[in-house]
Amino acid sequence: MKAIRIHEFGGPEVMLMEEVPIPEPASDAVLVKTYASGVNIADCGIRKGGNAILRPLLKLPLTLGWDASGIVDKVGDQVTAFKKGDEVFGVPTFPGDGSYAEYFVAKESHLALKPNAISFNEAAGVPLAGVTAWNGVIEYGKLQPGQKILIHGAAGGVGSLAVQIAKAKGAYVIGTASVNNLEFLKDLGADEAIDYKTQRVEEMLKDIDLVFDASPIRDNNIRLKFVQILKNGGRLVSSQLDFPYSEEVKTALSAKNVEGSLVRLQNYACLREMAELIDAGKIKVVISKVYPLEQAGEAHKENEAGHVRGKLILEIIKE
Ligand SMILES: NC(=O)c1ccc[n+]([C@@H]2O[C@H](COP(=O)([O-])OP(=O)(O)OC[C@H]3O[C@@H](n4cnc5c(N)ncnc54)[C@H](OP(=O)(O)O)[C@@H]3O)[C@@H](O)[C@H]2O)c1
Repeated sequence: MKAIRIHEFGGPEVMLMEEVPIPEPASDAVLVKTYASGVNIADCGIRKGGNAILRPLLKLPLTLGWDASGIVDKVGDQVTAFKKGDEVFGVPTFPGDGSYAEYFVAKESHLALKPNAISFNEAAGVPLAGVTAWNGVIEYGKLQPGQKILIHGAAGGVGSLAVQIAKAKGAYVIGTASVNNLEFLKDLGADEAIDYKTQRVEEMLKDIDLVFDASPIRDNNIRLKFVQILKNGGRLVSSQLDFPYSEEVKTALSAKNVEGSLVRLQNYACLREMAELIDAGKIKVVISKVYPLEQAGEAHKENEAGHVRGKLILEIIKE
């Protein structure tokens, strides 16, 4: 099968299209014929060698891509939830070879049946960003109906899904983006949209129940502003797992009795709940561009420029 692999860490040029054997699923895993793969900023980070936590787990050569949709080709002995021919979406086994390839393997627990209402390309834009958004807003954020949430970086892959998940849960949603994306946030259902470049959240907001930072920018100074706008006993959840809170942020959190957390992906069962919300028309998937598999390098360059609206997709099979 064809796959985009890296043999060394580095820039987009280290990604090579190669011919490799089709993988075999383990007993608790599923082999999926890939229709589309999502591109995530995390893929770019892994291409560059990851961080101190990830680096020891990354074995070369490696096929990139941890976000995909496709059709089940083969299931392991212990798999009961899926059978050959099922249309699925989910997160390929990590660390291990990913979905920039004609087939990928995923644990049964990291897959769900694809929503009927959307295409394979759209479905490939949901899993990793959606599981991150769901875990951030619902599992760590414990968002309740009627509460006020600020989502920072609301126009990106994680942010655009977080806005819609929070709305579907009955929250009052405020999102930040640059000026070109403010209308887009309103279209997603945000009640308010703030331009993070020209407006200051700390002068506009107070008594917020939950701040979810879904931006790709690592910045402890803006976290201090988030603590300022949170109510006493509120929650600050950051998607940036590799960027711990500074001592200054920790002091500010405890002075205000705010719980601060970094999102770990612990609940993948939410893929099923997101599929239901998608089929009910409550979540739409925004694809900004579809690239053919061989242009994965171009997709990485666009993602790393930092302003993708929604998702970038690699199309492996045209529907
Ligand atoms: N914890 C996990 O397991 C996990 C999993 C996946 C991702 N993540 C993390 O989640 C974060 C978001 O990932 P993603 O895939 O959604 O990224 P992304 O799609 O590449 O994010 C792009 C968005 O970021 C916004 N942005 C750019 N600069 C900004 C700034 N200075 N302030 C606020 N927003 C800004 C852009 O909005 P404008 O164009 O409007 O500026 C753009 O829409 C990343 O840090 C990623 O590492 C974590």
